[in-house]
Amino acid sequence: MVGTDVRFDLVLLPGDGIGPEVIGAAEVVLGVVGDELRREGMALACVKHPIGGAAIDETGEPLPQATLEAALGADAVLLGAVGGPRWDSLGPSQRPEAGLLGLRQALEVYANLRPATMLDGLAERSPLRSESVGGLDLLLVRELTGGVYYGQPRGREGQGASRKAVDTMAYADNEIRRVAHVAFRAARRRRGRVTSVDKRNVLETSRLWREVVDEVAGEYPDVEVQHQLVDSMAMLLVQTPSAFDVVLAENMFGDILSDELGGIVGSLGVMPSASLGDSGRGLYEPVHGSAPDIAGKDIADPLGAILSVALLVEHSLELPWVARAIESAVQGALALGLRTPDIASGRAGERLVGTREMAGEVARLLAQELFTRQSLNGAYF
Ligand code: IPM
Ligand code: MG
Repeated sequence: MVGTDVRFDLVLLPGDGIGPEVIGAAEVVLGVVGDELRREGMALACVKHPIGGAAIDETGEPLPQATLEAALGADAVLLGAVGGPRWDSLGPSQRPEAGLLGLRQALEVYANLRPATMLDGLAERSPLRSESVGGLDLLLVRELTGGVYYGQPRGREGQGASRKAVDTMAYADNEIRRVAHVAFRAARRRRGRVTSVDKRNVLETSRLWREVVDEVAGEYPDVEVQHQLVDSMAMLLVQTPSAFDVVLAENMFGDILSDELGGIVGSLGVMPSASLGDSGRGLYEPVHGSAPDIAGKDIADPLGAILSVALLVEHSLELPWVARAIESAVQGALALGLRTPDIASGRAGERLVGTREMAGEVARLLAQELFTRQSLNGAYF
């Protein structure tokens, strides 16, 4: 009998809007991952905690202490989405989004990986011509714990016509350097190219950004580096998205470009993300938001959350074969024609399904895939 000396502790934070539904879908897939781990003598434990608007309703705060402590003690955290109109009138530090920003900062996950790949069968959904998105396989590395999201001073003053608001974009050398290293290391494992995004013709932070990125580039002579101004990058992404390998951007530029990439790959609903730091403990979230208009209807796309589970399994559990099996189960469900409304194009052979059915089918294919692999191993060894 195999012992379970390795146990992975996951914290699930469903959050708001479609968050609980896509996390429910992810749980179905995690169930199959758990079965596989048991066969390998490991165990997977999941606990849920509130964050965002759900946490405000329950405890009065967007990031309750118990949620934060659980996340800090976990091997990995999987988050659905936060925010919604119900909490829109709250002050900046009381909003659901403050919970997410506080969590990213507390976990020190400064590098946010947002892969944008064209999934088979979704090219029809892209507003771009299929020949320009065909080979799209890009990794956006977004700085996540600095810049204008966190800079001080910040706030508002005055009343009526004399109202004034201020945000501060600030970056220190080491904040740029560490995320640049993540991008260059990723490029080494990929096609060896980094495109760094800035606005150096206007911003001081961008001038420092470019300087530091060039210094880091010197340590990776095998990786080609290129710089693009963010406005020009926004244009190039719709013109020649497949020309890029790793794209490195500061927090807000990365936020904006990742939604653009969601549009390009056909739906933001299929985009996953991994936020990593130096601790090995990652925060994983689909890139889509809480989408309150479609919440509770079983129509949200669970693939962004499910592919985030694949990233979690790869980066925090370090089980790349299980990650590959999840990705191939997703491709399998798409190949069978299953489509949630956001990725449906009305072609023959497609079947419109809900969140739960899509998740169930991916889980079924994953179990099959892992089982086949086991039998193959059995046959060969
Ligand atoms: C994202 C989201 C968040 C962000 C919001 C919800 C705070 O847009 O993860 O892209 O701006 O980082
Ligand atoms: Mg965003």
